[in-house]
This record gives sequence, structure tokens and C-alpha cells, in this order.
Amino acid sequence: MSDGFDATAAKSEVYRPRPETIANYTVPDYSSLRQQAAADPIAFWDAQARELVDWYEPYEQTLDVSEKPFYKWFTGGKINIVHNALDRHIKSWRKNKLALIWEGEDGEQRTYSYFKLWKEVNRFANILKSMGVRKGDTVTIYMGRVPELPIAMLATAKIGAIHSVVYGGFSERALGDRIEDAQSKVVVTCDGAWLRGKTVNLKDITDEAIQHSPIVQRVIVLKRTGQQVNMEAGRDFWWHELAALPIAGPYCNTEPMDAEDPLFILYTSGTTGKPKGLMHSCGGYQVHIAATLKFAFDIKEEDRWWCAADPGWITGHSYIVYAPLILGATSFMYEGAPGYPYPDRWWHLVEKYGVTILYTAPTAIRGLMRFGEAWPARHDLSSLRLLGTVGEPINPEAWRWYFNVIGKQRCPIIDTWWQTETGGFMITPAPVTPLKPGSATLPFPGVEADVVREDGATCDPNEDGYLVVKHPWPGMARTVWGDPDRYRQTYWSDFSSQEWYFTGDSARRDEDGYFWIIGRMDDVIKVSGYRLGTAEVESALVSHPSVAEAAVIGVPDELRGHAIHAFCILKSGETGDLALTDALKAHVRHEVGPIAVPAVIEIVESLPKTRSGKIMRRLLKARVMGQPAGDTSTLEG
Ligand code: WTA
Repeated sequence: MSDGFDATAAKSEVYRPRPETIANYTVPDYSSLRQQAAADPIAFWDAQARELVDWYEPYEQTLDVSEKPFYKWFTGGKINIVHNALDRHIKSWRKNKLALIWEGEDGEQRTYSYFKLWKEVNRFANILKSMGVRKGDTVTIYMGRVPELPIAMLATAKIGAIHSVVYGGFSERALGDRIEDAQSKVVVTCDGAWLRGKTVNLKDITDEAIQHSPIVQRVIVLKRTGQQVNMEAGRDFWWHELAALPIAGPYCNTEPMDAEDPLFILYTSGTTGKPKGLMHSCGGYQVHIAATLKFAFDIKEEDRWWCAADPGWITGHSYIVYAPLILGATSFMYEGAPGYPYPDRWWHLVEKYGVTILYTAPTAIRGLMRFGEAWPARHDLSSLRLLGTVGEPINPEAWRWYFNVIGKQRCPIIDTWWQTETGGFMITPAPVTPLKPGSATLPFPGVEADVVREDGATCDPNEDGYLVVKHPWPGMARTVWGDPDRYRQTYWSDFSSQEWYFTGDSARRDEDGYFWIIGRMDDVIKVSGYRLGTAEVESALVSHPSVAEAAVIGVPDELRGHAIHAFCILKSGETGDLALTDALKAHVRHEVGPIAVPAVIEIVESLPKTRSGKIMRRLLKARVMGQPAGDTSTLEG
């Protein structure tokens, strides 16, 4: 028994919210909403689009299926996400409400009312215009976790340009490839970013990345760390110097966009090394993220919402930047790492700012759990009312710790399953949903998810299968930037009907219909919740002069979910000593970024391959994990 929940420690542990918890929730009748939406998903999304966002011109059609799988939503409608996130609030009492509270790793604090954020966005939008950015152009943003990152995103969207945010933990090859693919003439960056008391030299990395990209004409540099950087005359400009010029006026028109115009590109990992830019649209995306945040996290005016992701990933795009602002919420954002400089930095922040909802990843929870209960116990965490998790399956042990030690058995755990491709939550409980530790529970209203066999038949309860989505949803990525065939091939070609979206995940459903996500079925590895492709790491390894061939697998890791284990064949004459493996790690760090550095690099003489020359990663994995090799009939003789 617990406070606010009835926990049954039966075969499967179920935490049922008590009636008084349900009564506190804005939409207590959530299950009938799910049922209605299942009967008519289009009507559900139509209602959300009318209620949650303003349109300059109404749409004619809610869902257009004429060019499958290139579905269109809210066609004919005119909209701009910045109107809904900022402009409209300036005309209401929310003008003076806090939109964003920010704390730097060094303790610096800043707050932005909706009015102040709106003005900063207008100024930066005018700066972008003066740099030649026009509707439909792409702007690459490569920054640390500072308020100017959302400001740059919003300013780009305001003028109808398309942002491509590259996570600040990527290094120059990853950045360069993404700038090149998006063809950005303008890049926005920082001199450096703070991370665990050290600085990451973002401007140096940008300089190297654009050496090979003559497309870049202008670089706008925010001063954050104050470190020495190279500024190339005529190309590089300081943000603060531009902001002091008359061009950076505090008013800028918001561009009315077609619902299907691109809003942003976000690169994510897939099966090949080439970056895959998922394109999200102006209309459907905002409807989806606003509806999901509203229902799953029951956002209220008085909430202080903390999504502890990085704005450089989809979680940050949707749930730090756009959805909370559309709903008029107050967000908190923190620059640094969870346990820095003390293991209770986060708990201190929750107490200091009265955070009411914390949304983070299992890897962060496991990391904080390792420090022990004494650290959170030092703080008054009673402001918390909901907790959330995303990014990988949460192991029940971490779930229980989060629930008991952080939430004091009062706060439901909202385990949200979704992807860069889906734009927003797809499988998630609401605060009234009975919870099972480790399960993302049930699909969001209007989302038709299923677990199927290879032939498309629905799996039996508790049978592992492919996780698919059978009906389009408004937040779906519209295409792969510049490569619609890759979009169709990757997501829509696996099942005979070709009308289902394949997520790349395996899952099972239990007898209550609850979804249990097992993990990726493709060559994607989730390391500390970050998404990486084996091919990205492999191509970084083989770009080192000593390496002839490389294969990379993900191996289960207690803290990080998965860790990278690499196998390299060296060129003849090279010796695989410690100095070389260290050099290879440094090389991957330099090429892709610290998140891609293998935990282990094993030097081998050969790699198991199929007769057609494909590396059999499955065999490598079985070997590392001491498991039987399974079917080896296709192995090269
Ligand atoms: C995994 C992150 C289990 C899954 C928003 C998915 C999860 C991939 C969960 C997408 C969850 C995300 N439970 N697994 N709650 N959330 N995943 O694109 O494998 O970085 O396919 O998007 O993360 O990762 P991405």
C-alpha cells in the first residue's frame, strides 16, 4: 500500500491510482477518451487541432491519404508554431508569466517571461533576416544547453525558415555531414559550452566542420564561456554585437506557413552511416505535441515543468521548446550534467525552483540512484507531482527507486515511448492509468499501435513481435530530407500491406494489452538514451589509418542501457596495443563525439560474415555475451 496508489504485488505489479488522485486530474475520463479516439482517430485529432492551436486560415482536410505513405495533415491550413508558442500569449495575461527559468552549470540564473522571450525571439529573427535567411532556408544550430538555443529555434521558425539543430555533443564530422546535407548557409553556435566544469570548444569544432562546407556563409557566435576563439572577418559575427545593432529590432512579423511546410530537420541514426534528416511539418507536429503533453502530463498553469533532455534531440525539441510554450507552461532548463558538481545537484534544483514535473531518461535515473538515497533525502521534493521517463525501457528496479525515493509513492511515473520519427508521445500512460513498472502502458488516444508477426498477424499476448503503428498520426515525420525513397524504404516497406509504419523496435503486449518495449531490432544502439547507428561508429573507426575493417555492437550495460563494443581488423603491419586502442577511442571522439566512444575495442583477425559479405553482428554479440551462436547456416565457409 502506498500514498496515492494501491500497489498489488501479484504476478505483475500494478500501481492503481486512488480515486482522489484521479479527481485531481484535468481529464479524469481518460479511458473513454481513448475509446472514442480509437473509434475515430481523425475526429480526435481534428478536435485537438481546433482546441489547442490557432490557425491563420482553417484547414480544409484533416488527413489526406492520397500519396501514401506521404500522409498530409490539416491541408490548406495556415499556421505558425511561434504564433501559438509566443505571439498569442503576449496578448493575454500570460505576457507576464514565466516561460523559461534557466540555471547554468556555474550557478548563473536567468528567467524569461513570455514577453521577454518573445522580444528576444523577434530580435534574433531580425538578425537572421539580416544575414540573408529567407523562408524555406535551413539554419544549422549547434549550441550548448543555453536559453539562446530555443531562442534561435523559435526565431528560425518565426520567419518560416527550417532549423536543423545538431546536438552539442557531436564532433566535427557529424556536424559537417549534417550542415552539408541540410545545405545551411547560416550556422548558429557558441564559443564553448560548459560540461562538468570543463569547456567544449564548439566554435573550434564548427570551424573544422565548415572547412569542407563552402556553402556556409555566415556564422553567428554566442559568447557563453568567454574562451578564446577564432573569428573570421566577414563570416563570423558575435550574437551580442549583432543584437546591439538597429537591425535587431524587437518586432518581427510571424510568417504564415502551410500546415505541410517543413518546420525542422532533425538528424538521427539509422542503418547506414549517412545522416538521416527527419523532416517535421508546421501543422501536424504542433497539434500532436501539444495534445500529448496536455493529456499525458496534465499540464496546469501553476506547474513548473522540467524536461531534462537536451534541446538538440527530439525530446528537447518537442517537450522543452515547443509543447510547453504552446500550452503556456513554465519550463525549467538546466545547462549541466546531473551529478555535477555534487550528486544532489538535480534534487537541489527541484527544491530551489519548486519543480512539479520531472521528465528524464532511465540512464539518468540509474546514474543518480547509484549515489544512494541520502542525496535526495537532503531535499524537500514535495513540489513534485508527476515523474516521467523516455528513451529506453526502464528497468523495474530504477522505476521503483524513482517512484519510492523521488516521488515518495505519490507521483505516477509517465513512461513515454516514442521516437524522433513520431514527433511526440505514442505509447504512454496518463496520470490516471494503472501502472506496471517497465511498461509504457497503452497507446495515446488516436494512436493505433500493435505488435505483429512477420506475416502481419497480431501476436498473442506475451509473444515478442514487431512494434508497428497502423494508422497515421499528425506528428509523424513527413520524409527523410532530400531522400523520400529512404523514408518509404525504412519505415513503410516491411509489411505486405505497406500501410503500417514499422518502428524498428520489438515489443510484446501482455494480457491487459499493456505494451512492453524490448528494444531495437535494427543497427541502432541506445547508449545512455542517445541514439547511435553502428555504421556511424564503424565508419569513424575505418577512417583511422590503422584500421582495415570494423564492426560495432551494443552490449547490455547496467548504467548506460547499452555500451558500444567494437571489433577492428588492423591493416597489415599494425600492432593492436593499448596505445592504438586509446588512439582509436580518441579518433571516434573527434569524429563523432564522446557518446560514440566504444567502451571496448577488440582487435581481431577476422569478422564473421555471410556469404554475401554482410557482417553478422548477431554472432559477435552472442560471443561477447557468452551465448550460443544460434543459426549459422548463412555464415561464410
Ligand atoms: C527507444 C527518443 C522503451 C525505442 C524519444 C525507440 C524507448 C527509440 C522509450 C527512439 C520508452 C524511446 N521505453 N524504449 N519509453 N522511449 N525508446 O529517436 O527503442 O532518440 O525506437 O527518440 O528509443 O529514440 P529517439
